[in-house]
Amino acid sequence: MSENAESSNTISAAQTTVKAESQKGDYPDFMLKEIHEQPRVLRDTFAGRFDAQSGKLNMNEIPLSTEEINAVDRIYIIACGTSYHAGIVGKDMIEQAARIPVEVQIASEFCYRQPVFTPNTIAIAISQSGETGDTMDAIALAKAADTPIITITNVADSSMTKESIATLQVLADQEVSIAATKSYTGQLAHLALLALYLGQERGTISAEDISSAYEDLTQIPQQVESILSESSIAAIEAAAATCYKAHDVIFIGRGVAAATCMEASLKLKETSYVHGEGYAANEFRHGPIAMIDAEAATPVVALAMESKTRERMLTIIKEVKGYGGNVVALATEGDTQAANLADSVIYLPRIREMYLPFTAIVALQVFARRIALLLGRDIDHPRGLVKAVVD
Ligand code: G6P
Repeated sequence: MSENAESSNTISAAQTTVKAESQKGDYPDFMLKEIHEQPRVLRDTFAGRFDAQSGKLNMNEIPLSTEEINAVDRIYIIACGTSYHAGIVGKDMIEQAARIPVEVQIASEFCYRQPVFTPNTIAIAISQSGETGDTMDAIALAKAADTPIITITNVADSSMTKESIATLQVLADQEVSIAATKSYTGQLAHLALLALYLGQERGTISAEDISSAYEDLTQIPQQVESILSESSIAAIEAAAATCYKAHDVIFIGRGVAAATCMEASLKLKETSYVHGEGYAANEFRHGPIAMIDAEAATPVVALAMESKTRERMLTIIKEVKGYGGNVVALATEGDTQAANLADSVIYLPRIREMYLPFTAIVALQVFARRIALLLGRDIDHPRGLVKAVVD
């Protein structure tokens, strides 16, 4: 590269940085700004999807006929990183509403397996950037088997979009912070809608249940806003302050909350370089519970919100306390029992169990960011990470 070309590149990189910095507004970093943008992203995604008159949810992006949707007998979700974690939640959403078996595969591993594509398999690729190399390779494998691809991405004219029969456009706008926040909840929003839509077309979920689930979805933006209120953030940050010196932070939950634990631990690792581990809570008792060190008061973040498994979670919290762990409980507003058992509590608004990941992850994004901040990390540019790994 000539000296001139190099200097003009340098100038343009510097200009880009200045421009980006100016877009931070009053926020100290993009991660916090983007966390706060989530209510808007969710509101925009849910808006206008349900026609109360016909009682139908619309997803015009999907070009498959009702007959074709009825014939689908397998779905592969392929993705990496945070998008993979969205896929794990999506599996439960789709299996519950549409009764189609769903396999979620790490894209880079999928390529080295011998996936069994039936003639009626479809694949869903999830990717913030729409450019991740591993996910592109997985798409190529699915396409070679004539499997139609639906892509959920933040970037409309991305490479993945070009390979797909349909794109569900995540409405997050540009995400600057390396740690994905608003793109993740934006992906979850599309997966929730897609699950209901597939269920509607297959007749596996009643019109009444679709309408009530949609109603619950439209409440989520304000629920997220309440988690981002000053007092709620103060409670989350106070809990984080009891954990930031630890070598390991363990996140436990069950069902969709277990998937949230995986994403929460990734957020912690990416932003703070503290080892985080997400476990299905009962599985945690089969070995990893030995990691709890009473002397170090190992932090255990327990997702114990109202759900089928709350009682069981409370029992596990007692057990963890018995071994000397420092328990941060995520609990539904007003749950004094959970609060009394734990060392600190983060309250979340009451929400349909399937939609717990939307609210729980927002609290845990704030939690991870706070720990990173207390450790003096560069919040938006963690070491060794790039926004999209394209090779
Ligand atoms: C990189 C990023 C992660 C991201 C992953 C998948 O590793 O650092 O934050 O989750 O890629 O990216 P994608 O754009 O496909 O969602």
